[in-house]
Amino acid sequence: MQAFDVVVIGAGPAGYIAAIRSAQLGLSTACIERWKTPQGKYALGGTCLNVGCIPSKALLESSENYERVLHKFKVHGITASGVKFDLATMLARKDQIVNKMAGGIAGLFKKNKITWLQGQGRFVSGGTSWKLEVQGDHGVETVEAKNVIIATGSKARHLAEAPVDNRLVCDNEGALSFAEVPERLGVIGAGVIGLELGSVWRRLGAKVKVLEALPGFLGAADEAVAAEAWKIFTREQGLDIELGMTLRGLKRTKSGLSVEYQTAAGKPAKFDCDRLIVSVGRVPNTDGLGAENVGLKIDARGFIEVDKNCRSSLPRVYAVGDVVRGPMLAHKGEEEGVMVAEIIAGQHGHVNYDAIPWVMYTAPEIAWVGKTEQQLKADGVAYRAGKSSFAYNGRALGRDESEGFVKMLADAKTDRILGVHAIGGQASELIAEAVVAIEFGAASEDIARICHAHPSLSEAMREAALAVDRRSLNN
Ligand code: FAD
Ligand code: NAI
Repeated sequence: MQAFDVVVIGAGPAGYIAAIRSAQLGLSTACIERWKTPQGKYALGGTCLNVGCIPSKALLESSENYERVLHKFKVHGITASGVKFDLATMLARKDQIVNKMAGGIAGLFKKNKITWLQGQGRFVSGGTSWKLEVQGDHGVETVEAKNVIIATGSKARHLAEAPVDNRLVCDNEGALSFAEVPERLGVIGAGVIGLELGSVWRRLGAKVKVLEALPGFLGAADEAVAAEAWKIFTREQGLDIELGMTLRGLKRTKSGLSVEYQTAAGKPAKFDCDRLIVSVGRVPNTDGLGAENVGLKIDARGFIEVDKNCRSSLPRVYAVGDVVRGPMLAHKGEEEGVMVAEIIAGQHGHVNYDAIPWVMYTAPEIAWVGKTEQQLKADGVAYRAGKSSFAYNGRALGRDESEGFVKMLADAKTDRILGVHAIGGQASELIAEAVVAIEFGAASEDIARICHAHPSLSEAMREAALAVDRRSLNN
């Protein structure tokens, strides 16, 4: 029986990073992964690489390029006629990126001498070490581990009213691979996936209708950002979003589906579409893990119970990423993977959960870190807010992306930055400065006094910091 210092279950961003960091620290490491490509090949990278972050961003870029040529070049004096796109090429490019990155992780495993155990992993028994079984294509192998890191991730939550077949009714897996652009696309859930993938297919020509159960839009975002996003997505881009609805069911029609629901006003309603995306959140993957064999504690919602250092209820068993509490974000899982590997190696790993950025890759992008204005109000924290609009930023105007703003929230007494919220082009890149600032405990005054290149979008960050002290220079 092979024995390891660390066995990681799951090779998504949380698991493969945990495996690499463990190996770097001199621990003998194996990683169990069951994921198979549609061609039946075992693959590393998890949801993020295979059916999440990476393929969705590849399609977002392609569809944005198409929209730019069609609608955004004219203002630069560039016209193009006969513009077409080939969806098969677009999808093939996305798949190539995924395959290249999956090969990259396999290469990193080799370089770091990590054993990749292919198949489904489960706990069999515990004691001074843990015994795990790996069910692969060629039978069952048992391995022994001093420490186990569970990184089994999550899967799409499905609804009884809209059973997913990944043909007509799709979760993220099907929605990243439509063979043709649906004429009419329905989306259930106006969250991150609904808005990102809804935008992809809208730009490629689909008429998109999004149905959302909650009465408010983008509840996790700062209210000012959510209001701006609502205005841009609905009024300017024509995304049809209906809030406060209740899904009743689906009927197959000759050409597709009829989606039946109740409106916010309580009236029955329906609409027809060719395809439907169900994006109503994700649930942790703990089935088939053998948790019951070793008494691993799982909470009522299916998450593995952990403390702030990702220690589970069992000795030397840790859990990281989507399968534990906290935001379901790839970089949050990566941070936890590094922390746990360092703790196992006797170091002081730690994750600052207050400095985890959020990004929505819509156009314009939305990004934030730290507290929203509504959270500070609810917590009774005295703060000062500064806002800087991209409409006054030369680089944004040059890029013809002058919508949106950066907003900074700082403690009224200490001036320490508590939250930064951005909506606009490249917000995903701009937010990194705010993450560094929060991590280093910076004050808004610090950002206001740092020289920012001109003309650059980053000047909006400085202007927002200046605005906290009511001394904007360009706004
Ligand atoms: P996963 O990536 O889900 O990986 C878990 C792995 O464990 C899987 O490969 C699974 O096969 C394996 N596994 C499970 N059980 C077993 C078992 N018993 N034995 C063996 N293997 C097992 N996040 C971002 O930060 N930015 C984004 O832009 C972003 N975009 C997204 C877009 C979409 C469409 C989706 C669906 C998600 C997106 N996310 C994004 C979220 C991100 O994908 C997840 O937060 C991230 O993948 C979680 O990483 P993880 O390692 O915890 O789990
Ligand atoms: P989500 O939690 O972002 O949004 C789900 C939405 O569906 C919510 O607005 C919710 O109110 C709504 N909803 C729930 N039940 C419903 C119902 N029965 N009818 C109608 N609406 C309903 O979840 P989503 O979009 O599925 O994404 C899952 C997770 O994946 C995200 O929370 C995020 O953690 C991650 N992700 C991150 C991305 C990024 O970082 N850019 C991109 C895509 C996903």
